[in-house]
Amino acid sequence: MSVKPEDFFKNIISHCKEYGFIFQSSEIYDGLSAVYDYGQNGAELKKNIREYWWKAMVQMHENIVGIDAAIFMHPTTWKASGHVDAFNDPLIDNKDSKKRYRADVLIEEHVAKIEDKIEKEVEKAKKRFENFDEGMFRSTNARVLEYQNKITEINSRFKTALNDGNLAEVKQIIIDCEIVCPISGSRNWTDVRQFNLMFATQLGSVSEESNTIYLRPETAQGIFVNYLNVQKTGRMKIPFGIAQTGKAFRNEIVARQFIFRMREFEQMEMQFFVKPGTEMHWYEYWKTARLKWHNSFGLGNENYKFHDHIKLAHYANAACDIEFKFPFGFKELEGIHSRTDFDLKQHEQFSGKKLQYFDNEENKSYVPYVVETSVGLDRLFLATLSAAYKEEALENGETRVVLNLPPALAPIKAAVFPLVKKDGLPELAEEIINELKYDYIVTYDEKDTVGKRYRRQDAIGTPYCITVDHQSLTDKMVTIRHRDTMQQDRIAIAEVKEFLNERVSLTSLLKKN
Ligand code: GAP
Repeated sequence: MSVKPEDFFKNIISHCKEYGFIFQSSEIYDGLSAVYDYGQNGAELKKNIREYWWKAMVQMHENIVGIDAAIFMHPTTWKASGHVDAFNDPLIDNKDSKKRYRADVLIEEHVAKIEDKIEKEVEKAKKRFENFDEGMFRSTNARVLEYQNKITEINSRFKTALNDGNLAEVKQIIIDCEIVCPISGSRNWTDVRQFNLMFATQLGSVSEESNTIYLRPETAQGIFVNYLNVQKTGRMKIPFGIAQTGKAFRNEIVARQFIFRMREFEQMEMQFFVKPGTEMHWYEYWKTARLKWHNSFGLGNENYKFHDHIKLAHYANAACDIEFKFPFGFKELEGIHSRTDFDLKQHEQFSGKKLQYFDNEENKSYVPYVVETSVGLDRLFLATLSAAYKEEALENGETRVVLNLPPALAPIKAAVFPLVKKDGLPELAEEIINELKYDYIVTYDEKDTVGKRYRRQDAIGTPYCITVDHQSLTDKMVTIRHRDTMQQDRIAIAEVKEFLNERVSLTSLLKKN
C-alpha cells in the first residue's frame, strides 16, 4: 500500500503507542522532551535485540568478554577522555523563530538536499535514455557536475572550519549556502557557539565544584578504565575485546525524530584491543563483521550503507558509520572507530597508572590500540520496527498492519487460541502454553473471532498463531498460522515445541553471522 513518507513515520509512532511498544516518558505530566519509556512489547523487543547483540559479540567470540560498568564514574575520567573540553555541538539560533539548531546538521541537511537533486537528475536520465550508463552520466552531465562541485566545496570548507574550531566560518557557510530556518523561513542567524552535551550532577549532599560528576555520555569509558582489570583477571591475549551494553546520556539540543535522538538512550559497545600497527586490519574486519550482523536481520541489505566521517573525532584515526534507511532517510545507526591508543594513554596520564600490555611474542610492553564498534540500541529498535512495519491491502478490501520482525526478536513468539471458549478447548490451549512457556514468551487469547485475534498478533509481530479446535481433542493436532504468508498448516501438538525451536530461537540468526 502506498502511504506518504511523512504519514508513514507518523503511523509507526502511533502504532508504537497503541500496541505497547513505546510511550512518551511521564506522559501524564505532558511528557519529557526526547525521553521515552518502553512498554510491554517494546521492552521484550529491545531485550531480544540486546541479547542477540550480546550473544553475537560475547558468546560467539572466544576472545571477547562482557562487563557491566557503573553509569557514574570518577569525574577525571571525562577530563581524560576529552569530553569535558571537546564533547560539544556547534549551536546556532534563528533570531526570528527563536529556534535552536545544530549548525553542522543544518549544513549536512543542505548537502543531502543537493545529493537528492543529483539522484533526481540520474533517475530522469534513466527513464529518458536506453542503454543508460550511470557512471558516464555522473562524470559528464553538466548539472550533476555542478552539484557535485558544490558538495565538495561545502564539505571541504566545513571540514577545515571544524578542524580549526573556526565557528565564524561555520556561520559563513550557512549564510553562503542561503540556509533558512524551517520555521521562520528567515536567514536571521546568531553566531555559532559550542555547547557541552554532558549532564552534570552532584555526588553526596555538598554542592561544590569538586563533587560534580557526569552521567556517562558513552559506555566506552567504563571499558577503558577496566581494561587492565579484565585483561589480567581474564588472562586475555591481544587481540581481545570487552563488550558492554548500558545507558548513556546526552543533553541533545536538537532532539527530534522520536527515539532516533534521545537524551537518555542505550548503547551496545565493544572495544577491541589490538597490537599497534594492526588497527586498520581490524577496523576493516569489524566493518565487514558488523554489516553482516545487521544484514542478518533480513530487513533488506539495500537499506544499509557506509559513510566515512569527514571530521574525525578527537580520538580517531579512521571512522565510519553504518547508515540505515530510516523512514526519514539514511542516517547513522552504528559507529565503527579506530580510536588509536588515545583513551588508554590519556587514562595513564591522568591516573598515573600504567595501562600496558606485555606481548610475549614481541617480548615488550605497549599500550594497545583500540577499534570500537558502537551501536545505539534504541536506534536499532527504530530501524528494525520501521522496516518491519507494513500496511497491507488484503483481497477482501481490509488493511492488515503487520510487523514482519525477525521471528527470534519478536516480543511474543506464539499465541495460542481455543477456537471457542468451551468444550475443553481452553484447557487444551493452556496445556500447550504450559509446555512452551519455559522457553518462550507465549500468550493466550480467546476473545473475538480468530480473524480478529490474528490481526492483534500481526500488529505486534507474533510470528505464529496456534489454534486449538474440536478435532484437536481427538487427533491431537493444531493449526499453525504463519504471520508473513498467512498460510496455515496442521501439525501434531507433540511437534509444536520443535517447530518453534527451529524458527524462533536466536540460534537461527546467529548462524547467519
Ligand atoms: N563510544 C563512541 C560513541 O559513543 P557515537 O557515534 O557518539 O559514538 C554511537 O554513538 C551510537 O550511539 C550511534 O551510532 C547511535 O546509534 C547511538 N546514539 C548516539 N547518540 C544518540 C542519541 N542521542 N539517541 C539515541 N542514540 C544515540
